[in-house]
Amino acid sequence: MIRLRAICPAKVNLGLHVVGRRSDGYHEIVTIFQAIDLNDVLEGGIAETLTLTVSDPSIPWDESNLVLRAARLLFARVPRARGCGARLRLTKAIPTGGGLGGGSSDAAGALMLLNELWALQLGPQALLPLAAELGSDVPFFLSGGTALGTGRGATVEPLPPIQERTVVLGCPSFALSTPDVYRALALPLTGDSGDVTVTRLFVKFAEGNDFALAKNDLEAAAFGMRGELATFRDAMSRSGAEVALLSGSGSTVFGLFRAGADVTPIIEILRGEFPGWTLRASRTVASGVRIVPAVT
Ligand code: C5P
Repeated sequence: MIRLRAICPAKVNLGLHVVGRRSDGYHEIVTIFQAIDLNDVLEGGIAETLTLTVSDPSIPWDESNLVLRAARLLFARVPRARGCGARLRLTKAIPTGGGLGGGSSDAAGALMLLNELWALQLGPQALLPLAAELGSDVPFFLSGGTALGTGRGATVEPLPPIQERTVVLGCPSFALSTPDVYRALALPLTGDSGDVTVTRLFVKFAEGNDFALAKNDLEAAAFGMRGELATFRDAMSRSGAEVALLSGSGSTVFGLFRAGADVTPIIEILRGEFPGWTLRASRTVASGVRIVPAVT
């Protein structure tokens, strides 16, 4: 029996500008998504019914449930998928509620894996709207690498891959809720049109491989909720990072370093200064979700 594996990477945002609050309850944003080498793994084979087991019992139901929601969306929208089943197993490595897009990547992985497993033959153009329906960050993970995100983040335009960087991730012991962080911005309604100037600026950062001036507008709200995030971000900046930023709506703060940089001493120092934080090194990658045969 065929068993497949979806390698589902995390992301960081190499800059995130909030243009304003839209009439549909979302916020209009401009962001550069960047996939990194920290992966959840979703594995599965065909079965009579649809089941999901998750490696980490502490994973919140709503987050892990995005995989099942992806499957149910296929049942609802793709006639050939009706009556199909699969036994799925999700092995988590990406922290949840950390602004690293773990749940969104798992959802994109589920769409791609079930598309193959059930031989639905949906191309990228058919998968994109389904991904957007599951969440604002989900479409990015179908292509991954480096990409410009606009609208609510679901409009994705792949960019040439940036020069590889080492990424140091600092995850505090608490998660932040994306709706709470956006709500704390307390912006007036400003309409749904994008910001061409910031879009050009962000594309210039990516094409010039220089993110020193990148900013994340959600920091003000997140730092207001948890002051230690600002303290950590400043410590990461002082450690020689090209840029240190909150990823998405947090709670992860990351620093960007040149490829091959020895970040071990930096990680050790930050661990000493911030007990309770989980520090790890990763690197940028030029891909998104990858479907590979499962090794048994
Ligand atoms: O799209 P997703 O389900 O991931 O978004 C979760 C929540 O985050 C939204 O319901 C909204 O409150 C907030 N959000 C937002 N603007 C965005 C993305 C998310 O306000 N661009």
